[in-house]
Amino acid sequence: MSAAPWWCASVGYEVYLRSFSDSNGDGIGDLPGLRARLEHLEWLGVDLLWVTPFFRSPMHDQGYDISDYRDVDPTYGTLADFDSLLADAHELGIRVLVDLIPNHTSVEHAWFQESRSARDNPFRDYYIWRDPAPGGGPPNNWVSVFGGPAWTLDETTGQYWLHLFLSEQPDLNWRNERVARELDEAMRFWLERGADGFRIDAADGLVKHPNLPDNPVAAATWVGPPAGIASDWGSLEHVYDVGQPGVREIHRRWRALVEPYGALLVGEIGLADPEALALYVNDQDGLHLTFWFEPMEIEWEAATIRKSLSAAAAASDHLAWVQGSHDRPRAATRFGGGDVGRARSLALAVLMLGLPGVPFVYQGEELGLVDGLVLPEEAQDPISTRAGEHGLGRDGCRTPMPWEPGHGLGFTTAQQPWLPFGGRSAADTAAVQRDDPDSILRRFRRLLRLRRTPPWGSAPLEWIAEQGPLVAYRRGTVLVAANCGDEPAALELPPGTWTLAYATQEPEGREATGSVELGPASAVVLVSPA
Ligand code: GLC
Ligand code: CA
Repeated sequence: MSAAPWWCASVGYEVYLRSFSDSNGDGIGDLPGLRARLEHLEWLGVDLLWVTPFFRSPMHDQGYDISDYRDVDPTYGTLADFDSLLADAHELGIRVLVDLIPNHTSVEHAWFQESRSARDNPFRDYYIWRDPAPGGGPPNNWVSVFGGPAWTLDETTGQYWLHLFLSEQPDLNWRNERVARELDEAMRFWLERGADGFRIDAADGLVKHPNLPDNPVAAATWVGPPAGIASDWGSLEHVYDVGQPGVREIHRRWRALVEPYGALLVGEIGLADPEALALYVNDQDGLHLTFWFEPMEIEWEAATIRKSLSAAAAASDHLAWVQGSHDRPRAATRFGGGDVGRARSLALAVLMLGLPGVPFVYQGEELGLVDGLVLPEEAQDPISTRAGEHGLGRDGCRTPMPWEPGHGLGFTTAQQPWLPFGGRSAADTAAVQRDDPDSILRRFRRLLRLRRTPPWGSAPLEWIAEQGPLVAYRRGTVLVAANCGDEPAALELPPGTWTLAYATQEPEGREATGSVELGPASAVVLVSPA
């Protein structure tokens, strides 16, 4: 990366605010709650937070439906709470990314209220309105990520509004320069308060084909978090609704806007093809980084993991590496659950830590959490409550953080949190794991230390062990390897003496020559003095 910007050696961390820490006993995580837990994050070795949306919202999609871009929802606190959070975070050397949702607003946003009030309202063109199809019904065949048509009829004005997500999330019209300016102002508002950048929701959405043609029927090309949630989305080829010409221009506009603040832009783009994804970041004139989501979907299988990481790393140096988020089942669950799933998730974290780009941890990964159990009647996610697809609902990965044993697990003093804990034990809690040198938390923390005193440098990436259970790469004097098989396996070392800088399953410091043996689901980082 040119001239090593500040985020180059960062460790990112996604805070799912609603479930992080509740300060006022209403059962919902909030900004003061997060502020009170900054010490955990600093201790852990995290220095870049992405905080999920805390703006005013009727919460039809847990805050991803914004009714005011420039205010904090009372559920999460106040603007003053945000300022205090930022001040404390900066004091600890932690930077904070705000979640920007530019593709759509809430139906309760004042712009939409105006827009839907009359066809000749000056705000009409802030959104995408169309007459019904000639024979009646929606203007085209587009579908919503959450299932069903992407159009809802407004009875008053007789036109449909477009929404790629819930009908309560109308899509903004990015062909209207006034919309672009409004979002500029929203970004400046947070940057002026000291925000360090933005995670950008649905960053390849925004622009739609001007003629809104039907999308062809085909296999899905989009593996973003909600892909496959409703078969509707996967039933169409997304040729005209996302990834349109013009999207990159918007990113360039934002880049110019944030540059004077030295702020970071991290995009959410769910493309399955790393080459196509790389087009959004390789010129470094728009987004700084974009998430690579495939590792949130894959099986625990050496060839699959090797291919997913190496193909992405070959396509771009500007990826944000993730194995979990508030949108997908937790890695430890996907990789088999229990101690096995935990060990595998930690091993994958080791592989991600040394790649060019920035690794992000999803809250609770550092504790080895599996998904919480949420019964259908306890569900909160619209995918369960609206689309009726409970099995695909996102509540399991969103259950509250277990901080310490006892009622409310240190998350809340309320009788009930907003979502059940879903079966946490004392051993899951941060407090218990902090006292146990062998816990996942302590092993995770030791790992993250390596970003601080990086042996990585900028040496080129070279994949070794092309087949078999080991996934391994070398960067100059550093070797990173994980055993993704079920049996112990020997890693052949290049000539010389290597020092175990980190190991998931044994203490550091030992020297090795010739080869090292890796147990199943274990990972190591080795450094050679040369
Ligand atoms: C992103 C968010 C997801 C949300 C959607 C709509 O994919 O991560 O949680 O539902 O955008 O804003
Ligand atoms: Ca609260």
